[in-house]
Amino acid sequence: MKVLGLETSCDETGLAIFDSEQISSDNQGLVGQVLYSQIELHALYGGVVPELASRDHIRKLVPLLNELLDQCDMKKSEIDAIAYTKGPGLIGALMTGALFGRSLAYGLDIPAIGIHHMEGHLLAPLMGANPPAFPFVSLLVSGGHTLLIAARGVGQYEILGESIDDAAGECFDKAAKMLGLPYPGGPNIAKLAETGNQNAYSLPRPMLHRGLDFSFSGMKTAVHNLIKDTPHSGGSGNSAESNPQVRADIAASFQHAVVDTLVRKCVKALKQVDMSRLVIAGGVSANTHLRETLEAELAKINATVHYAPPALCTDNGAMIAYAGYERLQAGQSDDLAVSCVPRWPM
Ligand code: KG4
Ligand code: ZN
Repeated sequence: MKVLGLETSCDETGLAIFDSEQISSDNQGLVGQVLYSQIELHALYGGVVPELASRDHIRKLVPLLNELLDQCDMKKSEIDAIAYTKGPGLIGALMTGALFGRSLAYGLDIPAIGIHHMEGHLLAPLMGANPPAFPFVSLLVSGGHTLLIAARGVGQYEILGESIDDAAGECFDKAAKMLGLPYPGGPNIAKLAETGNQNAYSLPRPMLHRGLDFSFSGMKTAVHNLIKDTPHSGGSGNSAESNPQVRADIAASFQHAVVDTLVRKCVKALKQVDMSRLVIAGGVSANTHLRETLEAELAKINATVHYAPPALCTDNGAMIAYAGYERLQAGQSDDLAVSCVPRWPM
């Protein structure tokens, strides 16, 4: 089955074709994918402007589909089903992909299905020949969500914990901004941290002893104060000449504090539900320090960590195509009515 996936929930237009018959040890069933990022467009305004995002998705959807079909050497008529992101996200942006996908499916007389964006992230590490088996604990860490979930099957998700304020990715983005680094902050902080000492500064590990929920807003304040009080940090409000080593040390200490918090909660969650597999997904799961720390810490409790290649961690069309395939296999599909859900709990 060849499924076209469409992701338009925020500022990336992602399209991909997943083919269940193409899965092999070195191929995840991904026949092709294209991704257009609107980052430069929104950079001018310091954040995503919803109306501009919708307009840009509309402008790019048809040319990107043609590019994808060329890349896959396929005709539209060879697509068997279409999956689109139904929510959560920006309503106008979601509507562009949903209406485009639903209309194309109608024209081709094939099924269409709306997908929860976070389920797309959650299932992305399962694409391929040797996926981690259910049940597992999933850590979903993106720009908008921080969730710990007990996943017992496709669609069988029990939320164990979540952030009561900022998401982990949002925290990376805000700390990056304070250090004068561009959006998206996560990869830029990670790069700067490579040459830093993670033990140079002590930052809080919020809510460590309170269940499986997270809180990252206090961390934001702590980084703000650290930058303000540290000479040569080069952050906003600090006019002193910046020192690259000081900046790298701040980035490394910050990254370590976030990763340490996430890892300790993951270990706690695995023990609580008596599971031995952890699957991490969402933009922050691309973070190398997070992956390496989890590998080391989970080995100590005989548990394993699984993740997708970095390109499938951040927003993309492939994860939507794959989640669509799983849902269609379970006998689900949507009727002709298109409804998007901007705020949609998992
Ligand atoms: O999943 P995603 O692409 O979009 C949302 O659904 O939000 O996640 C984007 C988030 C951003 O906050 C970005 O800074 C973060 O993921 N991110 C990272 C890394 N790559 C992306 N955070 C830490 N380290 C990374 N390498
Ligand atoms: Zn996402």
